[in-house]
Amino acid sequence: MSTEFTTRITEAVVASLDGTADPRLRELLAALTRHLHAFVRETEPTTAEWERAINFLTATGQACTDTRQEFVLLSDVLGISMLVETINSDTTDTTDTTDDRPGATESTVLGPFHMTESPVRELGADIDLVGGGEPCVISGRVLSGDGTPLPGALLDVWQASAEGYYDVQQPDVQPAGNGRGLFTADAEGRFWFRTCVPSPYPIPTDGPVGDLLRATARHPYRPAHIHFIVSAEGHTPVTTHIFVAGSEHLDSDAVFAVKESLVQDFTETDDPSLARRFGIANPFRHARFDLVLNTSDAPGVRDPEGA
Ligand code: BEZ
Ligand code: FE
Repeated sequence: MSTEFTTRITEAVVASLDGTADPRLRELLAALTRHLHAFVRETEPTTAEWERAINFLTATGQACTDTRQEFVLLSDVLGISMLVETINSDTTDTTDTTDDRPGATESTVLGPFHMTESPVRELGADIDLVGGGEPCVISGRVLSGDGTPLPGALLDVWQASAEGYYDVQQPDVQPAGNGRGLFTADAEGRFWFRTCVPSPYPIPTDGPVGDLLRATARHPYRPAHIHFIVSAEGHTPVTTHIFVAGSEHLDSDAVFAVKESLVQDFTETDDPSLARRFGIANPFRHARFDLVLNTSDAPGVRDPEGA
């Protein structure tokens, strides 16, 4: 192998990008070239291995449909979705005790099962339309970074059934909108709704990403969680989850999306008057937590256009 050639080709490809009008595109493509070439120099794939890699990426593209995004799933299981999400998120590290400001709620992956239109529901509604799981109440407040409540904040919520499937995965079994709700916080920024305690579930494994997990002896499970997108005027929205404390797979999420600050107790509660207030049978499980948003002009907020 000529070291001189393998270095020169990288410089030649990077130089070929000099005419790229968009400077950010030029930067991204040049860095991609350098990193990919370094990867090839380091690992020296055989021609057969490279062909296998191309076949894998081809199959990944071919597995994509209107309702399935295998490339996003690949990015998820390689930890790239979480890296991009975290680099772009507008939150203070809640474990950093040197920061007096209450930390904004940390973000995590969106995942492929978000529907842009969750059904609008009244506060207190039950998003578990099929039953069968362990009933629970989720309650808390939406707050600004300085602790001010955010009345009218929107909470888009979605979760898998107690059996571990989203409604869109089982259109013949679950009614559309099961496990989903779009809630508006009350005049004091409070929210509450009923659901069932979610279960851990496997990400889809019937495509190339499943082959990758099997080849690497990795399990496909995500720990039990409920998804949220929370937004309020003048604030940066957050895409996040709450994870059920004690759930299996909290320390080995298939998509590396667990952040410690997002793990919440679903406390066994035996309180008939509270149960009556929430319209739920006693006893029940109860997760209480606040969601904190930064103001859009807070320092450190990244401009999505990169300006
Ligand atoms: C989810 O939690 O819905 C999810 C996230 C990433 C990949 C697959 C599923
Ligand atoms: Fe999920």
